[in-house]
Amino acid sequence: MGSDLPRLEDFERIVFFTGAGLSAESGIPTYRGSGGLWAQYDYEDFACQRAFDRDPAKVWTFHDERREAVAACEPNLAHRIIAKIQREKTATRIVTQNIDGMHQRAGAVDVIELHGSLWRVRCDACGAEKEDLGLPLLPKRCKCGAWWRPAIVWFEDPLNFDVVEAAVRAIEACDCLVGIGTSGEVYPAAELPLIAMRAGAVTLEINPEETPLSPLYTHVLRGPATEMMALLAG
Ligand code: OAD
Repeated sequence: MGSDLPRLEDFERIVFFTGAGLSAESGIPTYRGSGGLWAQYDYEDFACQRAFDRDPAKVWTFHDERREAVAACEPNLAHRIIAKIQREKTATRIVTQNIDGMHQRAGAVDVIELHGSLWRVRCDACGAEKEDLGLPLLPKRCKCGAWWRPAIVWFEDPLNFDVVEAAVRAIEACDCLVGIGTSGEVYPAAELPLIAMRAGAVTLEINPEETPLSPLYTHVLRGPATEMMALLAG
């Protein structure tokens, strides 16, 4: 950090690779660490297909609470700066692990959502998928009679191949990757920045804490997303 900090305006194909820490300053809890969602809830009861098959209503209650909590929050300065950069440099891509839809609410487009979205549902019985903004609550059963499930990647679920491919293509083509607010502990998402690192792109990590990937980034900014993005965007 300091005078050798790259300036984002010098790059044309920036990828923002984002995680829960980006939305922390909006008031949305992260998953790990103190106050993290998984310290409070056991994923085996709320965030895997087995839990859903056992008790869909309980899993839906959990996700409706997440929707309510997210709906009460606003995108923060870092989301807004990212969206502004994308408007100015249209080759900018956003690859996120977040399911909160905050990038889009800040004005970003074509967001690659590796772990799906809280605001979509799908029916695994008939293959239907649709937007469901959740508020007011819509029927939880599809026209075919089966339960809708949140279109998010739960623990033990595979990622959507097309979405991963789109992320890989964006990262392969980037000249700068900015990783923001991710612990780098959830695979395969965590290893995607390695593609940019191996290709020799400039890579920046924004996180108040060290992560397993920190030593591999070309630049590390230790601080909260809003402050560090304001600094980077100049
Ligand atoms: P984590 O909760 O694992 O990590 C959040 C990271 O954000 C940590 O490294 C924090 O140090 C950092 N952080 C906290 N406050 C920050 C701030 N103000 N600015 C910048 N960084 C900050 O979240 P993810 O890495 O996103 O899966 O978790 C990956 C996946 O695990 C999630 O997508 C989720 C979860 O299970 C699904 O929802 C499917």
